[in-house]
Amino acid sequence: MTYSQNFDVLIIGSGGAGLSLALKLAEQSLDIAVLSKFALTTASTYYAQGGISAVFGADDSIESHIDDTLDAGAGLCDPEIVRLTVTHGKSSIDWLRAQGVVFTEEQNAFGEVQLHLNQEGGHSHRRIVHTADATGKAVSLSLIERAQEHANIKLFEHHNVVELITSSNKVDEELPTKRILGAYVLDSKNQQVRTIAARVVVLATGGASKAYLYSTNPQSSTGDGIALAWRAGCRVSNMEFMQFHPTCLFHPQAQSFLISEAVRGEGGKLILPDGSSFMQHFDSRLELAPRDIVARAIDHEIKKRGIDCVYLDISHKSEQFILEHFPTIYQQCLEFDIDITKQPIPVVPAAHYTCGGVLTDSRARTDITNLYAVGEVACTGLHGANRMASNSLLECLVFAERACEDILEKLPRILPPPHIPEWDESKVSDSDEEVVVSHNWDELRRFMWDYVGIVRSDKRLSRALSRVELLKNEISEYYSNFRVTSDLLELRNLVIVAELIIRCAQQRKESRGLHFTLDYPETDHSKTAHNSILTPNFFHRIDKNT
Ligand code: FAD
Ligand code: SIN
Repeated sequence: MTYSQNFDVLIIGSGGAGLSLALKLAEQSLDIAVLSKFALTTASTYYAQGGISAVFGADDSIESHIDDTLDAGAGLCDPEIVRLTVTHGKSSIDWLRAQGVVFTEEQNAFGEVQLHLNQEGGHSHRRIVHTADATGKAVSLSLIERAQEHANIKLFEHHNVVELITSSNKVDEELPTKRILGAYVLDSKNQQVRTIAARVVVLATGGASKAYLYSTNPQSSTGDGIALAWRAGCRVSNMEFMQFHPTCLFHPQAQSFLISEAVRGEGGKLILPDGSSFMQHFDSRLELAPRDIVARAIDHEIKKRGIDCVYLDISHKSEQFILEHFPTIYQQCLEFDIDITKQPIPVVPAAHYTCGGVLTDSRARTDITNLYAVGEVACTGLHGANRMASNSLLECLVFAERACEDILEKLPRILPPPHIPEWDESKVSDSDEEVVVSHNWDELRRFMWDYVGIVRSDKRLSRALSRVELLKNEISEYYSNFRVTSDLLELRNLVIVAELIIRCAQQRKESRGLHFTLDYPETDHSKTAHNSILTPNFFHRIDKNT
């Protein structure tokens, strides 16, 4: 049996972006639904380590945070969006503290208690507010607890969106513009598709790093929101800028465990198997150069020397310091018999963050009326060609606030959605060949790693695109014939995201920020820097300032 429900606002995603927006909206007596594809904590937010960037240091300034962000973004950040975001750093941290998040503190020289600030790559000052090395866990658990307590918020775990419903789905042809009406959602515990109607829908689905074989992200990061918005008719931007974190733990049994950049911020050194350092050959900022530079340097050394990994060494710091600052990393490594107080940590780069995404304006609005995108799913213009460390959680909080303001202003004028037909399963059957899905998942993530990774070339990209075309046809046929499952939905979205990444990368005939290609190794300074904008049905580039 399927059934429908109605809400004022449907928020797809229970990470930092989705939950902070839900809590802000719920204060206004609205009915809010929050969906999570798996458990509420299965989100990148929960796994964030380093912290949240905000200007608190006595010698720091908003201007300096802006300059560092623009510098890391390699000419493609939108300066107004950067200013807007950075100026809301302090109020965002204050809001989190009001929700019960406890950040690490220290005593200053005058005996006053103040926030302890971490240092990370690209930042010219200490400005990362954190909870030891498990900031995301502290943020997630507080926000989840607040949301669970709130009578106006209904949380749906294990609910996976199948498709967005818009007025052009032939629901109501009288509506003047394409408008969002809700979503078809698979309740994956009961294998039923239900209809959720809403006056406003918000994509807060996180990134797409699971398009790659090796990733620091949890299983939820399959780019669903990007693919859903794309199919519904939204523009998508800058997908070639996939960020690879330089230091993911390298161990056969370790699954996607990150070694925070804060380890390098506190003096951790990158070394080769013979103990020699190498970052001096790549950048004068050494281990604290922006991520794209450090990840490429490691990739270069690994490929040149035919080694499996490089090492990150913090063992010169005292045991007490390491246990105090990095308790989670210490414990996790110890489980693999690596004592980081005595030994260097084996590390490799892994897919970490999606700088591109659904194109939004400064109020988180997409191209479809009443559809918003907030957090890693969105491309706001903050990150440009490379996100600076710890700017992501800040973006989630600031744009949740922006979306909240816009939604509250518009909501009184938004009519409830018209009647929406139920999901039709009359023409499909249960699959008898699940292996097709698991095989294609594996194949896609492997060729994305091999051909569309840290170092690209025209030949590698066109090889990847021809494989995407084959997979797309196979998956589309499978989707038309068989009942939907969570794995199938993710694969159907991933193949679209893979195509968007490849098509953006193919259009960029230069190397810039996170996009490095052997065929055009230099940054093209001869013309105005441009964002890559993909429009459903055709793809084109526009100048950054148009
Ligand atoms: P997420 O937190 O990923 O949440 C996405 C939500 O959407 C999940 O609840 C998921 O279930 C749901 N969802 C997805 N698809 C669907 C669907 N089809 N149907 C229903 N629900 C769906 N950034 C920083 O600023 N500082 C850090 O220290 C930091 N450390 C990091 C460490 C790690 C290991 C990782 C992986 C990332 C880190 N980042 C950090 C990046 C940052 O954590 C993320 O960019 C940010 O948390 C994204 O938040 P979000 O709310 O947009 O998405
Ligand atoms: C880290 O702790 O290194 C991750 C920080 C980030 O991705 O912003």
